Amino acid sequence: QHVFRGTFVHSTQTCPMEVLENHILGVGSTGKILFIEHAEKEAQLALKWKFDESKIEDLGKNEFFMPGMIDTHIHAPQYSFIGSGMDRPLLQWLEHITFPTEEKFSDLDLASNIYETVVRRTLKNGTTTACYFATIHTDASLVLADIADRYGQRAFIGKVCMDSNTAYPEYIESTEESIAETQRFVEAMQNMKYDRVKPIITPRFAVSCSERLLCELGRLADSYGLHIQSHISESVAEIQEVLNLFPEYNNYTEVYSKNKLLTNMTVMAHGCYLTDEELHLFRSNGSAISHCPNSNISLCSGHLDVSNVIKQKVKVGLGTDIAGGYSISMLDAIRKAIETSKILFMEREKRRKESKTIHNHLQEENGMLPEKECNCRIKNNGKKVLSDQEAFRLATLGGSQALNIDHITGNFEINKEFDALLISPEIHNSPFDVFSQFSKEDMVQRFLYLGDDRNIKAVYVAGRRVVPFQNNS
Ligand code: GUN
Ligand code: FE
Repeated sequence: QHVFRGTFVHSTQTCPMEVLENHILGVGSTGKILFIEHAEKEAQLALKWKFDESKIEDLGKNEFFMPGMIDTHIHAPQYSFIGSGMDRPLLQWLEHITFPTEEKFSDLDLASNIYETVVRRTLKNGTTTACYFATIHTDASLVLADIADRYGQRAFIGKVCMDSNTAYPEYIESTEESIAETQRFVEAMQNMKYDRVKPIITPRFAVSCSERLLCELGRLADSYGLHIQSHISESVAEIQEVLNLFPEYNNYTEVYSKNKLLTNMTVMAHGCYLTDEELHLFRSNGSAISHCPNSNISLCSGHLDVSNVIKQKVKVGLGTDIAGGYSISMLDAIRKAIETSKILFMEREKRRKESKTIHNHLQEENGMLPEKECNCRIKNNGKKVLSDQEAFRLATLGGSQALNIDHITGNFEINKEFDALLISPEIHNSPFDVFSQFSKEDMVQRFLYLGDDRNIKAVYVAGRRVVPFQNNS
C-alpha cells in the first residue's frame, strides 16, 4: 500500500528515542508495517516484498516520520469550555463549570457538533489514539464513537458513570440506570463492530460513585473483557473526600482494586499523591497511570513525580485532560511533563542544597546531564529529570503500553499498525523554519519544543491517511 523512504524516529523498550536515517518502511494492505530497513537494501527489499521502486514515496529534506501520539486521558465534551474557568480548584470546578456543561450533552446536535470539532482538532494535532471520557448520556457517547470511526481515529470511548455525591444534582444517574445504560452502551458499541474504536468502562471517580456502582462496573468490565478508566489521587480535597466516603478501605487505590477496577486494562488519570505502596499495587496489577501535567498545574491539583512512577515500573502515558488542561496538543503534554519534572527536581535540590557549598552544587547540576551510550543518545537510568527523549516515549510507546495496545501501535516495529505523523519542520513562518545546521536529533527535539499542527503535514492511522481530511470526513 505504501513504501516510504527517509528518516523515522521512534521509541523502543530499550531506547527512548531512536533516529533511523535513510530507511525504507513498507506498509501492507492491512495497514501493518511489513518491514523497516536501511535503504541500501532497496533492491533486495523490492524483490522480497514485490514493490515497484518507482512507487517509493520519498520524504522531503528534513522531514521525518514519528509514531502518532496517544492521548491517554481527554474529556471530549469539556472541549466546549477549554481555556476558561481555570481559577477554581478541582471539586469547585466540577460543580460550577464542568457538570453544568456536560449536562447539556443530552442534546445530540450539540454533542455531534462539539465532538466533530474535538476529533478533527486532536487528529490534526497528531493524536492518532485518544482515550475519551464522554458524558453520562449513552446516545451522545455513541455519537462520539461514530465520529471517531468516521475520521479514522483510534479511540476508546467511555460513557461516564456517576450516581452519588455531586454538588450539582441535575447531572446524575441512579445506580440502576448507570449500570443498565453502561451495558446498553457496551452492546451498542459491539454491534457496530468498529475496527479501532472500543468502549471503555468509566466510573467518573470514587467521589461520585457508590460502592455498589463501582462493584457492578468492575463485574461488567470483567465479564465483557473491557478496558477501564477513571481518576485517582488528583487533589488533596478529593482524596480527603474519598477517605471520608470509604472508611473501610485503607487507601484510594484499594477502593478501585477491591472492586475489580484495577486490572491490566486500567488507566487512571493523575495519581499525584499515590504512595509507593499504592504504586506497588498498580504495578502488580499491571495498571497504568495517565500523567496530565497541564491539568495538574492549571487546577493547582499537585504534581506527579513521573520519574518515580517509571522507577517503580508502573506503566505510564501522557494525557491532555481537556479541559482541566487547556491544550489539545500532546506536544504541550510533553513539554509540561518535562517542566513539571524540572520543577520537582529544583524544589528537591533546593532543600538539599541549603546546607551545602557552591562546589557541591556545581557537581550535582552536572548530575542531570545525560550520559552518552551506544546508539541511544540518552538513557534515563533513574535520572532525576525526565529527558526530552523519555517524554517523547511517554507520548507514543508509553501511551500504547498504558492502554495495553502496544502489540498494535506505539512505534515502528514490524507487524504493528502504521500510526504515524509526517513532520515537516520547514513551514513558512513556523517558529523554527531555519535550522539546517542542526542534526536530526536536534531537529526532533526542536519540533517537540517549538512545533505545532502546521508542522504535521500528514497523519496516518493503520496505514490510512486521515489528515489532511478526506472528502468523506
Ligand atoms: N475528577 C472527576 N471528574 C473529573 C474531570 O472531569 N476532570 C478532572 N480533571 N478530574 C476529575
Ligand atoms: Fe480528567
